[in-house]
Amino acid sequence: MEKKQRENWGSRVGFLMAAAGSAVGLGNIWRFPYMAGDNGGSAFIIIYLAFALIIGISIMISEFAIGRRTELAAVGAYKSINKNFTFAGVLGVLSAFFIMGFYPVVGGWALAYVFKSFTGLLSNPAVIGDIFGGFITSSFEPVMWMLIFLAMNIAIVAKGIAGGIEKAGKILMPTLFVLLLLIAGRSVTLPGAGAGLDFLFKPDFSAVTGQTYLAALGQAFFSLSLGMGCMITYGSYLGKSENLPSNALIVTLMDTGVALLAGIAIFPALFAFGMEPAVGAGLVFVVVPQIFAAMGGIGTLFSAIFFVALTVAALTSSVSLLEVVTAYLIDQRGWERKKSVYTAGGIMVVTGILSSLSMGLMSGFTMFGVGVFDFFDILTDKIFLAIGGLLLAIFVGWFVDKKDLEDEITNGGTIKFGLFNVWYNTVKYVIPVAILIVAVMGIISIEQTSLMIFGLAVIGVLAIFSKKL
Ligand code: TRP
Repeated sequence: MEKKQRENWGSRVGFLMAAAGSAVGLGNIWRFPYMAGDNGGSAFIIIYLAFALIIGISIMISEFAIGRRTELAAVGAYKSINKNFTFAGVLGVLSAFFIMGFYPVVGGWALAYVFKSFTGLLSNPAVIGDIFGGFITSSFEPVMWMLIFLAMNIAIVAKGIAGGIEKAGKILMPTLFVLLLLIAGRSVTLPGAGAGLDFLFKPDFSAVTGQTYLAALGQAFFSLSLGMGCMITYGSYLGKSENLPSNALIVTLMDTGVALLAGIAIFPALFAFGMEPAVGAGLVFVVVPQIFAAMGGIGTLFSAIFFVALTVAALTSSVSLLEVVTAYLIDQRGWERKKSVYTAGGIMVVTGILSSLSMGLMSGFTMFGVGVFDFFDILTDKIFLAIGGLLLAIFVGWFVDKKDLEDEITNGGTIKFGLFNVWYNTVKYVIPVAILIVAVMGIISIEQTSLMIFGLAVIGVLAIFSKKL
């Protein structure tokens, strides 16, 4: 059979920017701080870092290797090596849909805040929290912003992977980084900021439970875009001469670096303003505008630029999720790119509207005890990604030929990877055991028991019917 030449990243930097763009997003700046806040701060952060640096890097190398080896996106990659694992790829596609069920809602909030920065958001710091609450619970505005954000995703992915998004990311990701540095600088010099630094860096392990570990694992996977075949898909477009371990290391360090910086930007200011750390999902949208408000006139401009950069960071992540679904439809169903994107995007319009409305109008409607937004969020973050990572580790460790892996990771022996055996044994033994323990401990102690059972049942059903997929 004749093989079509696969699309490729424009350049080495192009791939790195795309993979880092996928990783760095709302997960780092919106989600990480509030997860840390809700889970007691530094002990959570230490566990998260350990998971990211040991489990995260190893899984990322695995995903890159499988993607590049097979030159196929998640489902096809699994299927072409071992049919029994097809369902792990399908679980990834489902995860992409579920994450895209709530991610564009928050992306829409970020976009809205660009404009709100200019229209009086910062004029009265005392009501910034109320403004956020009023905004996200209303029925029209957030839905409209979500749809605009989603439309941007659809337009970008319809054009193919290595288009304008690479260029936008190249300028705006560094901008975001510089702004975070600036905010962090302001934040730590506010009077009373010390309590925030203690919260971030003085660990108190007494409050750590099974939930803390599961939350930290989920956060590590979510933030690094792992456990659902996203990096398999991106790896499938990766040139044969790239060094996989060093790319994985760079992406992981950038990603955790940005998350930590976001924490340093937010918590000192939060304590300085006398707020509680466990305020939940509104954290960045409430604390960051307050920091800018305290800067006077120039704060307005900084705030607008910050939310532009946050929107772009969100966009470079969400396009990678849409790409997972699109690549599946192209590779496995033989669809055209445009048809794939529009179909997937159409479904996401519906889930996005339901998620957004679940903050207000539809807050009374629950599934397994949670609203639509939380349903998508908890299901992916607390089960699907962890189980997806577990399946990937088992697959790579036990069902892929070790020689093939070594060949792929060392580019046919042309580059050295001294830690190959350490990596291999980590993937084969350490990660499956670690994830299993964390998942069992976490799922047992979680509040949303019926939701967890539902999630596990979904995975079971996929596994049983996978031969048909
Ligand atoms: N990592 C992104 C963020 O931090 C979100 C994301 C993109 C993602 N692709 C993913 C999460 C794949 C899990 C899996 O915002």
